[in-house]
Amino acid sequence: MKRRQLVKGALWSLMGALCWPFISFVRHERFRPPVEVKVRKGLKPGERLLEQDFVLFMTGKGPRAVSRTCTHLGCRLNFIDEEGIFLCPCHQSRFSPEGRYISGPAKKDLELFRVRALEGEEGFVVEIPRRLT
Ligand code: FES
Repeated sequence: MKRRQLVKGALWSLMGALCWPFISFVRHERFRPPVEVKVRKGLKPGERLLEQDFVLFMTGKGPRAVSRTCTHLGCRLNFIDEEGIFLCPCHQSRFSPEGRYISGPAKKDLELFRVRALEGEEGFVVEIPRRLT
């Protein structure tokens, strides 16, 4: 009986040792640099620019890039000028221009992207993080 347990334990240890490199490779999170979108346009305070993946607002405190991807199921949000909100065409979630959740099935705020000034030119660089799939 003791011998059987010893062999069983040794086999499990051997299986773990053999599988560990594969498991650690699969679980390993690789660094992927963000996608940089260049906006070659200056904005005055109060102005905004609608892009494919974000809306760039120029506030009194500087630029703010708010994601247009809904936090519910990922539909692309529209920005409604008259109401000054983001509205999801899929299930009507609403978000403020700051990206805060207002109503609807989405429960999380929108993602804010890093923005920096474009060097040597008028404009901005917006960093969109890449997601691991
Ligand atoms: S995908 Fe936007 S509310 Fe459902």
